[in-house]
Amino acid sequence: MRLPESQVAVLNAASATDERTIAQLAEATDLKPETVTGAVFDLRDDGLVTVTETVEEDVELTDEGVEYADDGLPEIRLYRAAMDVGGGDAVQMGQVIGASSLGGPQVDIALSNFARKGYGHIDSGELVPDADANPDADEEAAALSALVAGETVDTDVLDQLESRNLVVRHERTIRAVTLTDEGVTALMEGVEAAETVDRLTPEMLTSGEWEDVEFTEYNVEADAPEVRGGKKHILRQTADRVKDVLVGMGFSEMEGPHADADFWINDCLFMPQDHPARTHWDRFALDVPPMEDIPEDLIDRVRSSHLNGVGDDGDGYHSPWSEDFARAVALRGHTTSLSMRYLSGHEVGELEPPQRYFSVEKVYRNDTLDPTHLLEFYQIEGWVMAEDLSVRDLMGTFEEFYSHFGITDIQFKPHYNPYTEPSFELFGRHPETNELIEIGNSGMFREEVLRPLGVECDVMAWGLALERLLMLMYGFDDIRDVHGTLCDLDLLRETEVLR
Ligand code: PHE
Repeated sequence: MRLPESQVAVLNAASATDERTIAQLAEATDLKPETVTGAVFDLRDDGLVTVTETVEEDVELTDEGVEYADDGLPEIRLYRAAMDVGGGDAVQMGQVIGASSLGGPQVDIALSNFARKGYGHIDSGELVPDADANPDADEEAAALSALVAGETVDTDVLDQLESRNLVVRHERTIRAVTLTDEGVTALMEGVEAAETVDRLTPEMLTSGEWEDVEFTEYNVEADAPEVRGGKKHILRQTADRVKDVLVGMGFSEMEGPHADADFWINDCLFMPQDHPARTHWDRFALDVPPMEDIPEDLIDRVRSSHLNGVGDDGDGYHSPWSEDFARAVALRGHTTSLSMRYLSGHEVGELEPPQRYFSVEKVYRNDTLDPTHLLEFYQIEGWVMAEDLSVRDLMGTFEEFYSHFGITDIQFKPHYNPYTEPSFELFGRHPETNELIEIGNSGMFREEVLRPLGVECDVMAWGLALERLLMLMYGFDDIRDVHGTLCDLDLLRETEVLR
């Protein structure tokens, strides 16, 4: 006969003449009691063993029970004190209690049991002990001592002790196993352990073999492959958080084309058409038709700004300005193209101050790849339009913004942009290398930018690098750790951006 291994072991350890308990079988087979119990039930179902069950009661003294077993029951202490003090006569309550050295709730316990058990009665503030009472014959006291000695105790007294919370009772089922005749025969004919399998196959199900095999037990401590679900990239998570923060600061989000006319990317920004950056700079030109949808009057005002500047004493670049050049389409090198679209009124209509706008979007530059430069990255673009803005408003805005990310050490360096005056570069301290790294560029848009757009008040603006913010937050120092084929998978997996 073939049986699962645990059943074979239990069968061999069982006996036809003596009962064996589960605990004894577990000890003999070196199996866990629950495994033995399972095997015993299966063997019983196959008629190889019989099982007799008896329920035993365990009685355990509570802390209070232990205390009374040591010091005596409160009512007995009270009785003895009364007898000592009054020799059997009525005694003043206060006096007895003092003499009994009972304290706190024990006094109430003593008094209520005193009368119940016939140790005496209470009469107008006096305790009257019954001289015939015999505390040495107290059943409850005797039961407590018997329990301490491990002896059994009459059920009635146990009930009483349980109602006084001096004992707790647990029931326990003891299973005793004996071999049946069939079990003995099986053993004589020989039982072999069936092989254990760790996988149920379709073949086992169809052949019925599954009924005879033993399945290996679960090992919940075994190493298991780590399963990782998909998750949002930390750049995206951080971008989402940046958006939350800016929306919280009262900004609205801008959106617009990744491939845009040079007009919006450069001309509106008073970038001269012969600026090196516009000819052989890091620009991704696209072989697509020129952009048609640009307001004619805006083109005229921008052209005029480039040629002659703005205002009576304005001055321009005095170099040719080509409309074809302006309509040519390229991948945007910054998202300031979006700011131009919105400030011009082309996107959401004329804007009245005050206004605040932002975007967290990709930009594209034909740079050389290195630890801090990629061909594409995310820019946190933003601007505030209001009367009488100052550089202090600009700096205060950055301090507030970066503080949401735990970055408090922001430094400003004067800078030059053709479109802002004054201009500032922003620097933050890298948490690992301790170096100051550039994290953004900013300034107040100059008149040559704002007047053609039709904006009469001040506008402060900036472009911050999302990847640099990430570097300050998570301490990596190579942008390629989060982008592309060389990315640091552990960093990407383990970093959680708190929102
Ligand atoms: N466009 C600038 C850059 O890409 C950032 C900037 C935006 C600076 C607006 C000033 C004003 O670096």
